[in-house]
Amino acid sequence: MVTLGFIPMTFLKCLFLACYLASSLGLNSSIQPCDPNDLLALREFAGKLTNGSIITAWHKTSICCTWDGVVCENVNNGTVASRVTQLILPSRSLKGLISRSLGQLDQLKLLNLSLNHLEGGLPAELSNLTHLEVLDLSNNMLSGPVSGALSGLKSIKVLNISSNSIQGNLSELGGFPHLVVFNISNNSFTGQFNPQICSSSNEAQILDISWNRLTGSLEGLDNCSRSLQQLHLDYNSFAGHLPESLYSFSALEQLSVSGNSLSGPISKELSKLSSLKTLVIFGNQFFGELPNVFGNLRRLELLVAHANMLSGHCLQPWHSAQIFEFLIFETILYQQCKNLTTLILTKNFLGEEIPKNGSGFESLMVLALGNCALKGQIPVWLLSCRKLQVLDLSWNQLDGSIPPWIGQMENLFYLDFSNNSLTGEIPKSLTELKSFVSTNCSHSNLIASAGIPLFVKRNKSASGLQYNQASNFPLQYT
Ligand SMILES: *[C@@H]1O[C@H](CO)[C@@H](O)[C@H](O)[C@H]1NC(C)=O
Ligand SMILES: *[C@@H]1O[C@H](CO)[C@@H](O)[C@H](O)[C@H]1NC(C)=O
Ligand SMILES: *[C@@H]1O[C@H](CO)[C@@H](O)[C@H](O)[C@H]1NC(C)=O
Ligand SMILES: *[C@@H]1O[C@H](CO)[C@@H](O)[C@H](O)[C@H]1NC(C)=O
Ligand SMILES: *[C@@H]1O[C@H](CO)[C@@H](O)[C@H](O)[C@H]1NC(C)=O
Ligand SMILES: *[C@@H]1O[C@H](CO)[C@@H](O)[C@H](O)[C@H]1NC(C)=O
Ligand SMILES: *[C@@H]1O[C@H](CO)[C@@H](O)[C@H](O)[C@H]1NC(C)=O
Ligand SMILES: *[C@@H]1O[C@H](CO)[C@@H](O)[C@H](O)[C@H]1NC(C)=O
Ligand SMILES: *[C@@H]1O[C@H](CO)[C@@H](O)[C@H](O)[C@H]1NC(C)=O
Ligand SMILES: *[C@@H]1O[C@H](CO)[C@@H](O)[C@H](O)[C@H]1NC(C)=O
Ligand SMILES: *[C@@H]1O[C@H](CO)[C@@H](O)[C@H](O)[C@H]1NC(C)=O
Ligand SMILES: *[C@@H]1O[C@H](CO)[C@@H](O)[C@H](O)[C@H]1NC(C)=O
Repeated sequence: MVTLGFIPMTFLKCLFLACYLASSLGLNSSIQPCDPNDLLALREFAGKLTNGSIITAWHKTSICCTWDGVVCENVNNGTVASRVTQLILPSRSLKGLISRSLGQLDQLKLLNLSLNHLEGGLPAELSNLTHLEVLDLSNNMLSGPVSGALSGLKSIKVLNISSNSIQGNLSELGGFPHLVVFNISNNSFTGQFNPQICSSSNEAQILDISWNRLTGSLEGLDNCSRSLQQLHLDYNSFAGHLPESLYSFSALEQLSVSGNSLSGPISKELSKLSSLKTLVIFGNQFFGELPNVFGNLRRLELLVAHANMLSGHCLQPWHSAQIFEFLIFETILYQQCKNLTTLILTKNFLGEEIPKNGSGFESLMVLALGNCALKGQIPVWLLSCRKLQVLDLSWNQLDGSIPPWIGQMENLFYLDFSNNSLTGEIPKSLTELKSFVSTNCSHSNLIASAGIPLFVKRNKSASGLQYNQASNFPLQYT
């Protein structure tokens, strides 16, 4: 380090020292003066906002690299210069339009403006951000057509514009060679599945196009990269069968297609998806047997298949349908899938017997078998589901009485045995349920009736079928 004591204090040397110090400190990008173009672009960006604390905070100095939410880096573009590379302003109550000047921050790698109240359209100039790797504009009030605003993002890896009102034809997006995550969930996109989104990158892992207005078949999935780990297509109007190619995505961990018009059988090939942890297919028109391949799906944690026409009872003789049902229970619950936490099969398996034997339900927390016309008695194996919190056996044809051991289920807080043929007295032991009156379950309306805390049906209008909507579950399961 240069110290003043060794240097004669002439004006020139002093100037030299100042320059030296400035340039050595300059290695620390956070106190470099702002690149004049970046400064202008950021000032213009702030100028378009009508609320948000940064508007005033940014006025205090022109060293933009020290501003809240701004990150600079030394970029070597011929000459080393400190440039704005990240703009991180989520949840800042930002209001107003996204300025087109952002397109001039040409070294920007990360832009996170999520969870604000930004409105208006996506400026076409965003397309100039050829170094941008992460774009998160999710959870704003952006609208209008997507046009070409994203087409130039050749370096993009993570794209999240979910939960806005952005319109466009899905065919306008795609061709991102480094894409890893693509999330346009909960917007107003139309058109068909566009295979270019997941075929132009070998690294595509997460594809979330749920909650849009997409139509057509899923044949385009054939072209997607086999690196895909999550595929979320819920709540669109996709129709037709699940394409056979789907079963070749061996890295797939989450597959959700609920709330579409998909039909056809679920293929036995499902067994090839050995990484699968989550399978959500409810609210479609799948029919035929849900194939008994769960022995191969050893990682499965969540299966939600209700509101389909799955079973074997129309195609099979009565007794084999029973066996099928039993096998499903046995394989999923008893042997292989010890990590299964949630099983929702409401409105399936019409008229079959609930299995009597069982053991080892270590992880099960939610068991919903409502409206399946299940016969038999409340099975004693439930007692070994030590983690069970939600138990719905409503709208079946169960007989016998409510067993007193229900009172020993420590974690149970939702219990629905309504609309069965149960007889006898309600056992006093129900009052011993420890979690039943838990106050941290804000969702549940508990009332005390005859000394027994009961859960009030939330969805009275839906003719008693509680699980018509997943939103009727306690939050953590939806
Ligand atoms: C720059 O300064 C900050 C604190 O102001 C420090 O944390 C960082 O390590 C410094 N970087 C370099 C490259 O010296
Ligand atoms: C404006 O922003 C502040 C925080 O900077 C926030 O508390 C306030 O609610 C916002 N006002 C509006 C109308 O969004
Ligand atoms: C360097 O920056 C200038 C202007 O900022 C730009 O025109 C040029 O293309 C850049 N060069 C490289 C190699 O990125
Ligand atoms: C953007 O910021 C929010 C809030 O901190 C964070 O949850 C989100 O993960 C960030 N987005 C990305 C893509 O990192
Ligand atoms: C930035 O984008 C606008 C609008 O798309 C375009 O007219 C302009 O030429 C672009 N500028 C650069 C430097 O690429
Ligand atoms: C946007 O999506 C990405 C990837 O799915 C995720 O990492 C990020 O947290 C999301 N942003 C918010 C605000 O949730
Ligand atoms: C997509 O982004 C939303 C935030 O708007 C997030 O909740 C969701 O988990 C993301 N999807 C995936 C698959 O990461
Ligand atoms: C969709 O976005 C709206 C706000 O635009 C939000 O209120 C709603 O919760 C989101 N829905 C989902 C399923 O994410
Ligand atoms: C979407 O774009 C494709 C290809 O350009 C076109 O065939 C289709 O009709 C468009 N769909 C909608 C709903 O605009
Ligand atoms: C999808 O793959 C098929 C065969 O591999 C090919 O003929 C077709 O052009 C591809 N489509 C797209 C959109 O990449
Ligand atoms: C089940 O979960 C445990 C603990 O999280 C884990 O070690 C084990 O590998 C899981 N089993 C399977 C088959 O995924
Ligand atoms: C169920 O258990 C009983 C007695 O423990 C046994 O006799 C019977 O074979 C078992 N049924 C099946 C299908 O395993």
